Amino acid sequence: MKPFGTEFCDQLAIARYSNGAWSAPSIEPLAPLSLHPAAHVFHYASTCFEGFKAYRWSDGKGRIFRLHDHVARMQRSAASLRLPIPEADLLAGMVVDVVHHNLDDIPEPPASLYLRPTLIGTLENIGAAAAPSNEAILYVLASPVGDYFAGGAAALKLLVEERARTTEQLGSTKTGGNYAAALGPTLDAKEKYGVDQVLFCPDGDVQETGAANFLLISDEEILTKSLDTSFLHGMTRDSILKLGAELGYKISERKITVEELLEKVSTYEACLSGTAATLSPVGALVYDGKEILVRDGQPGPNRAKLQKALQDIQYGLATDTHGWLTEVG
Ligand SMILES: Cc1ncc(COP(=O)(O)O)c(C=O)c1O
Repeated sequence: MKPFGTEFCDQLAIARYSNGAWSAPSIEPLAPLSLHPAAHVFHYASTCFEGFKAYRWSDGKGRIFRLHDHVARMQRSAASLRLPIPEADLLAGMVVDVVHHNLDDIPEPPASLYLRPTLIGTLENIGAAAAPSNEAILYVLASPVGDYFAGGAAALKLLVEERARTTEQLGSTKTGGNYAAALGPTLDAKEKYGVDQVLFCPDGDVQETGAANFLLISDEEILTKSLDTSFLHGMTRDSILKLGAELGYKISERKITVEELLEKVSTYEACLSGTAATLSPVGALVYDGKEILVRDGQPGPNRAKLQKALQDIQYGLATDTHGWLTEVG
């Protein structure tokens, strides 16, 4: 299988917004989009997207994980960028259609079909920095992706960086500009410290990395930052907290300071949560030029237990008591 994000299904779903209304969505062959060079998105970054997965079960049907929650997050992102907000039924229907048309391309678990709804502002106006794009294109791209942990779950090294990933007003919006803001610091950290990711901790407040949420886990407790507008509200984070509570963990959502983080990692496991990897183990932190091991530096048992609880639901090996899956087939 090709690297994550580089292989695409032949068909996508697309809808266009103009004159105050969405066109009926259609399924089209994957092809380049033709956009005016003055399109709002190119100049004023009016773009947001989602990322989630569909799994193939042994019955040959697809199951989309937390479709309606991802649709709701995309609506919130669109609203914060003042883009036309797709109706929930429209967007959910487009996702289901794409999965339906590409059912045969969903690989067997632990591989999956990654879904990428994308909304861009297409107003042709280079004088619209302070005006919303009232024209837009919405499309849903599908991409078969392999097992993230093929070859084993390697423990990651993170740089603890006491600055923000992005701005407070866009932190919980899934928009390209946030990734652009995190790119430079992440590349610099990789080069300077040989780390995999940066853990952004503005003013000592432990937030998230460039593309995943951060959790501390012991045999008794799952500890993570409480929701606010400064970071992306991950569905994996939410799912792990709900499953963790059912497994008897105490769930603590509150502010974590860098000081507390450095103290806790001698006994707590540290993990990154996100759709791509579910739960990735963190083996070491770099802070103030020094490397600090997370416990013994190896992936821990609680991560494995929580990841299995989540994947069993996604792969159809455990009952979906939360109504998280949408069947397609
Ligand atoms: C910045 C950021 N934080 C957190 C996450 C994890 O979110 P989710 O669990 O919904 O994939 C992602 C991935 O989408 C992300 O890009």
